[in-house]
Amino acid sequence: MKTVLILGATGLFGGHLARQLIQTGRFDVVCAGRTEAKLKTFTTAHGGRYIAFNRSTPEAALAQTKPFAVVDAAGPFQSYSSYAFARACLEAGAHYLDIADAPDFVQAITSLNGLAKANGLTAISGASTTPALTSAVLTAFNMPQIGTIETTILPGNQTPRGLSVMRAILGQVGQPMQLWEGGAWHPARGWSRLSRTALKVGTTQLKPRPASLVNTPDALLAAHFNTQTVLPRAGLELGLFHHALRLARFLPFPLGGLTKPAHAVAGWAQTFGSDLGGMQVRAPALPKSRWPSLRPPWPASVRKQKCASLTASQIPISSPRKRCAWPRISRRH
Ligand SMILES: NC(=O)c1ccc[n+]([C@@H]2O[C@H](COP(=O)([O-])OP(=O)(O)OC[C@H]3O[C@@H](n4cnc5c(N)ncnc54)[C@H](OP(=O)(O)O)[C@@H]3O)[C@@H](O)[C@H]2O)c1
Repeated sequence: MKTVLILGATGLFGGHLARQLIQTGRFDVVCAGRTEAKLKTFTTAHGGRYIAFNRSTPEAALAQTKPFAVVDAAGPFQSYSSYAFARACLEAGAHYLDIADAPDFVQAITSLNGLAKANGLTAISGASTTPALTSAVLTAFNMPQIGTIETTILPGNQTPRGLSVMRAILGQVGQPMQLWEGGAWHPARGWSRLSRTALKVGTTQLKPRPASLVNTPDALLAAHFNTQTVLPRAGLELGLFHHALRLARFLPFPLGGLTKPAHAVAGWAQTFGSDLGGMQVRAPALPKSRWPSLRPPWPASVRKQKCASLTASQIPISSPRKRCAWPRISRRH
C-alpha cells in the first residue's frame, strides 16, 4: 500500500482530503501537522497514522515515513518564502502536490521541474479551486478563443473556515496586486471593485451577493488561455462583513495580524446567513476578428506551463455556459 503524507491534515481542507483518502482504504495515510494532540484526536476518530513536525524541518519525518506522495494543505502559501518543503519532498523521493492559492508561488513551481524530472517525480502546485478547478472548467468549455475570464467564489456564511484561509484573505485586503485587463497589466488593490453576483446552486437561485477582486492564481489563466482579461473575485455572504473588509482596505497596515480575532468573530456570526455557496466561472468568447490582437502576457517559458486540471471539488459550479454572453460555442477542429 502506498504511503501518502498530508501536511495540514487537522486543518479544514487537509482534513477533508485525509478523511476521504482514508475512507478509500487504498492508501497508508500519514496525517501531519505541528500539534501532536490534534493529530492524535484526528486519527483516533478517522483512522490513519500521524507524525508531528514543522514544515520548516521535514527531513527526519520524511526519512521515517518514506511517503510515495506528499500533499501540502497547510498554508498560508502567501507566507512561504521558498520551496524548501517541496524540495525536501522531491529529494526524499516523494511526489509533491499542494493546494496553494498564492499566484507567485504557483507560477514559479516550475523552478523545481529539473529536480522533479531528474528523480522521476511530479511537482504540482495549485491543485484546488484556483487555478486547478477553474482551469478544468475552462478547458471543458472547449472554446476557440476566450475573451474574458471571470471567476467568483462565494461561500455561504455557515461554511466552516480555517485560520490559514482567513489569513490568506485578510492579508490581501487593500494590498497591491496586478490585474490582467484589456491585454495589459494594471495595478489594483485586493478587495476593491465591488460587483454583485447571483449564483444558482442546484435548483436554488441565490440572491445577488457582493464580490470584490482577490489575488488568486487564476491570474495564470491569462497566459494559459491567451485571454485579454482575467477578473478573479470572491465575496462574503453577509454584506456587513464584506463591506467592512472593503472599508478596511484603506487602513495603513495589512490585516493578516488580525486573523485570530477575525476568526473568532466569524465563528460567532456563523449562525447567520446560510450554508449555500458556490463558484461561478464566466468566459465569453472573443469575436474572431479580434483574435490576432492578443499577445501572451507572460514570457514564452511561462506560457508553456500547463495549469493543472482536476475535476473534483467541494464547490458546486453554477451552469457557466448559460451565463456566457455568447452562448453559442463553436469547437476548434
Ligand atoms: N488554491 C485554492 O483554491 C485553495 C482552496 C482552499 C484552501 N486553500 C489554502 O489551503 C490552505 C489551508 O487552508 P485551511 O483553511 O484548511 O487551513 P487551516 O484549517 O488553518 O489548517 C492548517 C493546517 O496546517 C497545519 N500547519 C500550519 N502551519 C504548519 C506548519 N508550519 N507546519 C506543519 N503544519 C502546519 C495546521 O496544524 P497545526 O497548527 O497543528 O500545525 C493545520 O492542520 C490555506 O493556505 C488556504 O488558503 C487554497
